[in-house]
Amino acid sequence: MQADPVDKPRILVLASGSGTNLQALIEASRERDFPGDIVAVGSNRPQAFALERAAQAGIETFTVDHTRYETREAFDNALRLELERRQPDLVVLAGFMRILTEDFVRAFQGRMINVHPSLLPRYRGLNTHQRALDAGDEVHGVSIHFVTEDLDGGPVIARAEVPVRPGDTAETLAERVQAREHLLYPIVIRWFCEGRLQLAGNDRILFDDVPVPEALTLPAA
Ligand code: GAR
Repeated sequence: MQADPVDKPRILVLASGSGTNLQALIEASRERDFPGDIVAVGSNRPQAFALERAAQAGIETFTVDHTRYETREAFDNALRLELERRQPDLVVLAGFMRILTEDFVRAFQGRMINVHPSLLPRYRGLNTHQRALDAGDEVHGVSIHFVTEDLDGGPVIARAEVPVRPGDTAETLAERVQAREHLLYPIVIRWFCEGRLQLAGNDRILFDDVPVPEALTLPAA
């Protein structure tokens, strides 16, 4: 029997920009057997196109505009209230470009994941594509990780590699990486919603209750 949608894990997505990862998740969630329900999409930017994508898909949206808060703590407290009201089982950061306070991260630890455009632990932070080019890397990619207090440093669940080709720019590389993000993120979210993925302590991942020694890595095609 098909589970009633209200019984599915509640996914809340936070995004700051264009929302192509959100779009990939919306499309995956339309599959009949998708084990989660996207209950809301929030942004710190009122103009984020991600909000429009959500509205078009009939998903509730909300904004907590960071420019209206004097401190990071005040912004995070307001955001946290919005999240807690909606009781998410999983918080999906999909291009959410705010650094979150430790208190906020602790409140959602084990149920908050992020997509980062590099093969972590390489290139935490910004400008990852240009940094991979500057370093002469032949392989670059994307990582999906649990969010912990260590910025971009939480345990990696899965990675997908892409080749760096002669003549690549940060833009061409970003496009290739994003195509892999759109494939990988919904798969990881599916695993979480199926109850297969767990964060143990700060730095260990359990998959089907078994500790994972190495993040799953899809090789460069
Ligand atoms: C994605 O490429 C994601 O990896 C990156 O932002 C982009 C958002 O695109 N995230 C980070 O840089 C997080 N530090 P989207 O809005 O089209 O999904």
